[in-house]
Amino acid sequence: MIRVALGARGAFDKAIDECLPVFNQTTMRKVHELVEKRAMSEAMRTAGRWGAMVLVLLALGGSAVEAQEAAELFRQNCISCHTIGGGRLVGPDLKNVEERQDRSWLVDFVVDPTAVLGRGDTYALELKDASGGVVMPRIAGLTRKQAESLLDLVMAESLLEQSQFAGLGLGDEPFTALDIAWGEVYFSGTRRLLNGGPPCLSCHTIGAMAGLRGGRIGPDLTRVYERLQGRKNLASWLQAPATEIMRPIYLSKSITSDEIKLLVAFLEDTARNRAEDNYTARLTMLLLGLGGAGFGFMLADGVWRNRFRGVRRALVRGER
Ligand code: HEC
Ligand code: HEC
Repeated sequence: MIRVALGARGAFDKAIDECLPVFNQTTMRKVHELVEKRAMSEAMRTAGRWGAMVLVLLALGGSAVEAQEAAELFRQNCISCHTIGGGRLVGPDLKNVEERQDRSWLVDFVVDPTAVLGRGDTYALELKDASGGVVMPRIAGLTRKQAESLLDLVMAESLLEQSQFAGLGLGDEPFTALDIAWGEVYFSGTRRLLNGGPPCLSCHTIGAMAGLRGGRIGPDLTRVYERLQGRKNLASWLQAPATEIMRPIYLSKSITSDEIKLLVAFLEDTARNRAEDNYTARLTMLLLGLGGAGFGFMLADGVWRNRFRGVRRALVRGER
C-alpha cells in the first residue's frame, strides 16, 4: 500500500532535495527510510508537521493519504472509547475485530450503531450489555467509505506489536506525590502545557479551589475521576476531549501523554481527598514531603500568589 503511494520514489527524493535548505536533509532521509519500513502514520508522527505536509502533498490521492486520514479520523472520534490492543474502555478493544464479525456488519454498525441495535441484532445487544448499556454514538457525517478505511486501519494496527492506539497503558500502581503535584501544576497553569493548550483552571474549578479562582465555563472537576469511571477512561477522554468547547481547542493543541498521566493523577487525588478543610493542610504536607526546595518554591509561588489574589478579588467585590 505504501509502496504504491510512494511509487514515485524519484519524485520523492527530488522533492526532498528541493525542500532543502528548508528541511534538514538527514532528517528527511530518515523520514524516507521510515516510510519504507513502517506504517505511514508512524512516519508522519516522527517526521513532524513539515515532513507530514510534504508526504501528504506527494501522496495526494494515494492510499497512504487514506491511511493517514483514517488514523486522524480514529484519533479524533474513536480513541475516547476504544483502544486497539490496550483493553476495553467504554467500548470494546477493537483488536482483530473482524475475527468477531464480518466486514459489512461492522460497516453498518460504525456508520449507524443505533439503527443496528434498533433491528434487534443479538450480537449488538451483547456488545451493549458488555459495555454497561452504553450505546455507541453515531458519528455525524461518517460515510461508509470512511468506516471501511477505519476498519482497514483497525486491522492493520492489530497486526502491530504495539499499536499507536493502544491507549496510555496506565496501570493500577498508585501515583506518586510528585505525579499529583505536577498534575496540579499543569492543571492550574503554573507550568504551561507543552503544546500550548490553555490551563484547565481557566474554565474549571476543583472543590476547595473554587472560592479562590477558576473558571466557570466548564463543570467542577473534583469528582470527574469517578464520573468518568477511573483512570483509563479519564485518560482516553483527555486524549480527545469530546465536548463542544474543549474539542476544537485541544484538537490542535493536544495534551501530551505525559501531561495526561499527571492530570489524571491529580484528578484521582482530588476525587479521593476533596474535603475542603483538609485541602490546604494536604497541600502543605505535600510541599514539605517534596523536599526539593526549588520545586516547592515554584509550586508555592503559583498556588499562594493566586490564592492571595483570589481572596483580594473577592474582598474587593465585597463578596466576603
Ligand atoms: C462514546 C463512546 C464511543 C465512541 C466515541 C465510539 N465507540 Fe465504537 N463502541 C462503543 C460501544 C459502547 C460499543 C459496544 C456496542 C454498544 O454498546 O453500542 C462500540 C462498538 C464498536 C464496534 C464493534 C466492536 C465489536 O467488538 O464487535 C466497532 C467496530 C466500533 N465500535 C468502532 C468504532 C469506531 C471506528 C469509532 C470512531 C469512528 C467508534 N467506535 C467510536 C463506544 C464508542
Ligand atoms: C475553554 C474552556 C475549557 C478549558 C480550558 C478546559 N475545559 Fe474541560 N470542559 C469545558 C466545558 C465547557 C466542559 C463541559 C462540556 C459539556 O458539558 O459538554 C468540559 C468538560 C470537561 C470534562 C468532562 C466533565 C464531565 O463531567 O464529563 C473533563 C474531564 C474536563 N473538561 C477536563 C479538562 C482538563 C483536564 C482541562 C485542562 C487540560 C480542561 N478540561 C480544560 C471547558 C474547558
